[in-house]
Amino acid sequence: HHCFSKGEDGFLYCEGVRVQDVMEAVERSPFYLYSKDQVTRNVEAYKEALQGLRSVIGYAIKANNNLKILEHLQGLGCGAVLVSGNELRLALRAGFDPTRCIFNGNGKLLEDLVLAAEKGVFVNIDSEFDLENIVTAARVVGKKVPVLLRINPDVDPQVHPYVATGNKTSKFGIRNEKLQWFLDAVKSHSNEINLVGVHCHLGSTITKVDIFRDAAILMVNFIDEIRAQGFQLEYLNIGGGLGIDYHHTGAVLPTPMDLINTVRELVLSRDLKLIIEPGRSLIANTCCLVNKVTGVKTNGTKNFIVIDGSMAELIRPSLYGAYQHIELVSPPPADAKVSTFDVVGPVCESADFLGKDRDLPTPAKGAGLVVHDAGAYCMSMASTYNLKMRPAEYWVDNGSVLKIRHGETIEDFVKFFDGL
Ligand code: LLP
Repeated sequence: HHCFSKGEDGFLYCEGVRVQDVMEAVERSPFYLYSKDQVTRNVEAYKEALQGLRSVIGYAIKANNNLKILEHLQGLGCGAVLVSGNELRLALRAGFDPTRCIFNGNGKLLEDLVLAAEKGVFVNIDSEFDLENIVTAARVVGKKVPVLLRINPDVDPQVHPYVATGNKTSKFGIRNEKLQWFLDAVKSHSNEINLVGVHCHLGSTITKVDIFRDAAILMVNFIDEIRAQGFQLEYLNIGGGLGIDYHHTGAVLPTPMDLINTVRELVLSRDLKLIIEPGRSLIANTCCLVNKVTGVKTNGTKNFIVIDGSMAELIRPSLYGAYQHIELVSPPPADAKVSTFDVVGPVCESADFLGKDRDLPTPAKGAGLVVHDAGAYCMSMASTYNLKMRPAEYWVDNGSVLKIRHGETIEDFVKFFDGL
């Protein structure tokens, strides 16, 4: 079952807790509301899919970096995928085993690579200069760094261009024509780096698993080629990117099981360990942004529901034109008229919308309105634009609502100027 559902009374529930009641109990709106059990179920789905394979689930911390959620994911046996030194520091604080962590990125800083080398984190080589920096970091700490080569497989993931990463024009990874150069460079630095695998990441919000199989076939060919040169490769990392059902139309989308099944035989045939890097598919559907309706207006051609949440708390619709499902948390009065609305925030930007052309019953002032599937790339991309302070986060844990992050306040903000 899914954590958010309509009850027979017409109210929205999160694991048996009425969202309206949570709204009335917490001090501030908007806020993020998660289901801890949904996080667990999502991890279990991957674990079940990976049965019979040697594997690491590397949770992509960029999707959601709430420390309590990280601790929970770590406790469930996940590793972590990092893109900055600070993500590594937070992962360590959450208790992640650094030898189950992978450091990705096209612009990794030397000081962050030094920390990664010290802790024994796997590092993906993204470019010539990146390799140079990894070698330097290994020398600084006097430890050999396990590395993977991030190869750009040039596969079209059929997603929004901003979230496609494994195609020709991407800034990520190395072109396969350069593979031999990198293999020679790795050989000549055998005191500093140990090539343990290859990595690719195609993009995000992918809803066709064939794309993963196409990429895995290419990657396994590279592995054969690399092994033929005497390297002992152990790992195939196929990245993250599995999409979710943002539209709530009931369409059948590929599951973690479908994803893993498309690559299972390939992985087994080469006796590899599989690394996967899911972010969205582990965390997006565990959460809603809960907002309050400030008012309803029309400009003659368009109707607007104005809420207290905005692009500052949740930027995906503004940035990618992303669709996230929107609904009211309480049943509308029987005479409420259904109209087509843009759901917008108070921020001074025309791009400040959470949803466009949504058919909704006209809500009363103060009514609750949720934006679904807000667990991934929402809070972690929140800003303080217009001095909208970042919201608090709560989760439902065993029937109780617990705060898992304080809301940011104007006092926090002014502190940045203390003593200046
Ligand atoms: N591995 C690598 C190397 C990545 O670059 C990413 C995401 C992931 C794994 C996790 O991908 P996921 O399973 O979450 O799709 N802000 C955008 C998404 C950016 C994704 C960046 N890379 C959004 O809100 O849709």
